[in-house]
Amino acid sequence: MYQFVPIFFLISLSFTLTLSYPTPQTLNLRPQYYNPKLPLPSTLSSSKKFEGSSDLVHLNYHMGPVLSSPINIYLVWYGKWAQSQKQLIKDFILSISTVDKTSGSPMVSDWWRTVSLYTDQTGGNISRKVGIAGEYSDHVYSQGNHLTRLTMQQVIANAVKSGPFAVNHKNGIYLILSSDDVTVQDFCRAVCGFHYFTFPSMVGYTLPYAWVGNSAKQCPGMCAYPFAVPGYVNGAGAPKALVPPNGDVGVDGMISVIGHELAEVASNPLVNAWYAGEDPTAPTEIADLCLGLYGSGGGGGYMGQVMRDGAGRTFNMNGRSKRRFLVQWIWNPVLKACSGPNALD
Ligand SMILES: *[C@@H]1O[C@H](CO)[C@@H](O)[C@H](O)[C@H]1NC(C)=O
Repeated sequence: MYQFVPIFFLISLSFTLTLSYPTPQTLNLRPQYYNPKLPLPSTLSSSKKFEGSSDLVHLNYHMGPVLSSPINIYLVWYGKWAQSQKQLIKDFILSISTVDKTSGSPMVSDWWRTVSLYTDQTGGNISRKVGIAGEYSDHVYSQGNHLTRLTMQQVIANAVKSGPFAVNHKNGIYLILSSDDVTVQDFCRAVCGFHYFTFPSMVGYTLPYAWVGNSAKQCPGMCAYPFAVPGYVNGAGAPKALVPPNGDVGVDGMISVIGHELAEVASNPLVNAWYAGEDPTAPTEIADLCLGLYGSGGGGGYMGQVMRDGAGRTFNMNGRSKRRFLVQWIWNPVLKACSGPNALD
């Protein structure tokens, strides 16, 4: 359900890390495999128990719909957004359906393939087509500098009432992105993002939506991990943050959270389809199961093997326009394990 804040992150760090960033090796600009050996934040105490022991995971289908027709994303930019930041996020979303490999392999679309393995009771798989169907900018902070779960729905209501923003019950995802100066209920204390659906009394319709915030000025060490580490981690031997693939700690950090939430909305849009656990008010969903895992050999508190380019930027998948992204893995219902396109096997 939620992308949790890794509250207990690193507190029990009891060994010394020597994270070296070799000065970029001359002229070798080909990405190399790289295992940062950064201890994972977590709540991974919660996902850790799933690693390698799929018997413990009881991911169940609860008979509700998944998003099986081509998915339309409606973007709501809340607050102040630079054009370049918007473009970075849109490039990630549009990469989900980009199969052209000229940007390199593996692709974001290979990552979404795991998501598309989920079906509903009609046998329909989650669609592999994901597009941006509309954008709405609330740059006047219509609900102020603090959003709650309810005022967020008011923002969606305003967007839906404005002309070009369709009411799309069938295959729409309304994605609210808040800028780094906006505080949000539970943000940085309990969550980095979440998804749910709107209520007819607030919005007029039941529409699946997700929210993700830019944590750059509020809690990057939690929500933009591993591109920032918590402030209390310092001193000799403390792990260094990794270099973000697109040079924007806050937005590069949001990308993995956006991927997490989109995978979960697609597989559990009305919170009655795919989740583990008995409690539908706190479901463990297909991305929650792999929180903090980005590559092979991850687990036991490590993010796993990712890639690093000649300038030290870390990533694990490629997108359109030669973009690179670092995105967490997803629970694979066929393999009954977390999987991602950069797996080494
Ligand atoms: C649909 O999901 C099933 C079950 O996971 C899988 O075997 C099949 O390959 C998927 N089909 C497509 C087109 O992705």
